Amino acid sequence: MINTTVLEAKNLSRYYNRGSEVVKALHRLNLQLKQGQAISIIGRSGSGKTTFLNQVGCLDTPTSGSLIINGTDVTNLKEKDLVEFRRENIGFIFQLFYLFPTINVYENVELPLLFAKKRNRHKVMEVLEIVGLTAKQHLLPKQLNGGDMQRVAIARALINNPKILLADEPTGRLEKNEKEPIMNLFTKLKNEGLAIIIATHDLEQAKYCDLIYELKDGQIIAEHSKVEGIKLKG
Ligand SMILES: Nc1ncnc2c1ncn2[C@@H]1O[C@H](COP(=O)(O)OP(=O)(O)OP(=O)(O)O)[C@@H](O)[C@H]1O
Ligand SMILES: [Mg+2]
Repeated sequence: MINTTVLEAKNLSRYYNRGSEVVKALHRLNLQLKQGQAISIIGRSGSGKTTFLNQVGCLDTPTSGSLIINGTDVTNLKEKDLVEFRRENIGFIFQLFYLFPTINVYENVELPLLFAKKRNRHKVMEVLEIVGLTAKQHLLPKQLNGGDMQRVAIARALINNPKILLADEPTGRLEKNEKEPIMNLFTKLKNEGLAIIIATHDLEQAKYCDLIYELKDGQIIAEHSKVEGIKLKG
């Protein structure tokens, strides 16, 4: 259903101990995300972008606060349930692609299904079609350019029908001309109803999103509806 809230972070904090010092990587962060909405998280290096994505991606647990994803407060889930919840609700895309070099495009995309013991050729072909890689399904990662490698990673992230797609610097390793097609792909996915969070320090990429949240020292210091005029505060 359109307008459904898929994510709600309430006073979300993640502190790290570094010797005797406490690093407030996230500090009382509040944010909501709806289906069909794409937001970007911008901020200088160390502002907490990856820490936030790791929280939403259920790869880490908060120090305090709550995180409600698709109606479930994930901070109450046990590790085993969290793994399953992550698999069913979250697609994660990393800057470094993380493809397996010895298996082809099709097999890289299929991998999460095999982990879940749910082989499904129809679904693999569907997501390959969405990202535009049907014709390249038999190639190995090393035969692809960066843009296509990222497409493989996106297809793999989509294979379990996630509610939320998380992308950490998804164009950071791409050539200049490869960035726009990948951002257009995110826009297409958003228009089909997916909720997307893109962490980036490249303002050029943030302009594809509906809302831009600016992080500094683990806190949202500003919310922007367009990139024009944004100057990252140091
Ligand atoms: N595992 C950890 N242990 C201790 N401190 C950490 C850990 N992970 C992150 N931090 C600290 O938390 C803060 C936020 O880091 P984070 O990686 O979330 O920033 P970022 O915005 O993603 O930066 P970048 O743009 O460089 O990717 C930084 O001060 C970082 O040093
Ligand atoms: Mg980061």
